[in-house]
Amino acid sequence: MNPEIPRITIAEAGRHAGETVEIAGWLYNLRRGGKICFPQVRDGYGTIQCVAVKSNLPEETFEKLKDLTQESSLIVRGKIRAESRAPGGFELDVESADIVQRVPESDPYPITPKEHGIDFLMDHRHLWLRSRRQHAALKVRHQVIKALRDYFDSHGFTLVDTPIFTPAACEGTTTLFEVKYSDEENVYLAQSGQLYSEATAAAFGKVYCFGPTFRAEKSKTRRHLTEFWMVEPEMAYSDLEDVKRVGEEMVLFVIAGVLENCQEDLKALERDVSKLEAVKAPFPRMSYDDAVKKLQSKGSEIQWGGDFGNTDETLLTDDLDRPLMVDRYPAAVKAFYFQPAPERPELALGVDFIAPEGYGEIIGGGQRIHDLDLLLKRLEEHDLPREAFDWYIDLRKYGSVPHAGFGMGVERFTAWMCGLEHIRETIAFPRMLYRTRP
Ligand code: 4AD
Ligand code: MG
Repeated sequence: MNPEIPRITIAEAGRHAGETVEIAGWLYNLRRGGKICFPQVRDGYGTIQCVAVKSNLPEETFEKLKDLTQESSLIVRGKIRAESRAPGGFELDVESADIVQRVPESDPYPITPKEHGIDFLMDHRHLWLRSRRQHAALKVRHQVIKALRDYFDSHGFTLVDTPIFTPAACEGTTTLFEVKYSDEENVYLAQSGQLYSEATAAAFGKVYCFGPTFRAEKSKTRRHLTEFWMVEPEMAYSDLEDVKRVGEEMVLFVIAGVLENCQEDLKALERDVSKLEAVKAPFPRMSYDDAVKKLQSKGSEIQWGGDFGNTDETLLTDDLDRPLMVDRYPAAVKAFYFQPAPERPELALGVDFIAPEGYGEIIGGGQRIHDLDLLLKRLEEHDLPREAFDWYIDLRKYGSVPHAGFGMGVERFTAWMCGLEHIRETIAFPRMLYRTRP
């Protein structure tokens, strides 16, 4: 390393035009002629075309570059030059280079520019992440997470994370992962942090938890992972209307952040950004009753009392350019903790946000039961063991107040932002029914 030459990232190249710099990266692509070659280098921040001219370099350096193999690691030094025809607007004229590790010809980098099948790519996910589109999707994910945290941190919410090992089910018993915890005890991986957030909301007012959650989803769909990240705000002294208001404001805040900071990545993903720019307040609102009527009028087989499937969710929003809020579902299709609607107790004070363009439910939430006797009755009806919920029941004994909250899945939201067909590309190492590797 030469201390005289500053190490920069490719994203910073524009600020160093005319200067000699050092870039540490990997060989993305290589074009060559007899006396010149063009190694395209990526460093995690961008890609830059380098120009290596035989007559300007020690022979050994030129020979090493000319035959370099894809994804070999290297450090190049040279002058940055503005070049309007180059993808990033700049090129680097190579003055010297060190090869850090050369990928051997006998065992070449498996992902070549040709088309590969999805199973092959998923098996090589640890390498596939280096590709432009995968890199872009994960950069958008990063921005989504950052904006979510910024939103809650600047609106009076305290981050209080909740446990992963839990003794009780939150979202029904059919999707639980059971773990042997000790010789005496089995526990479950958390499906949601909500129940604990209800406790912390009574301590802090407004809280959120943000972590991995687990569902043993038996179905293989493009919207379901078995391990996904969820942000879950919970608010004391709040109701269903607060959930709609905060959810809408949060969604708009995150989209604004993505549009502001991810233009290059959205371009790499070929995302039609006008679809995201169109998402504005107010989001349309509809009762479950009316949603069923709308679906029936569009030819769905759904009957009152049934839950919406993927095709129903897509049908419901196919004439909309922004998420739809559907509220007051039949209590029977929802989790045990929902407060019943006062005028019609067979309905739950819950709301789902259904994203446009077929992305389905991105948010689920609502108002929680705050009455002790009603909670005890529901636990019994849902066949949930009272012992596992003793602490949760306490919350209804000691200063119980109306409270509400929701959960948003990071991967579903990111898939929508990126316009991706399948949720598996929105997380670095997806876990699905038939995939636990790499
Ligand atoms: O509707 P869900 O199941 O709600 C809850 O877990 C509540 N306890 C949240 C709360 O009120 N604090 O899940 C919430 C969101 C869904 O809208 C969806 O975005 C995401 O979590 N989600 C999944 N994402 C990926 N794969 C799965 N298997 C998912 N299940 C839910
Ligand atoms: Mg839901």
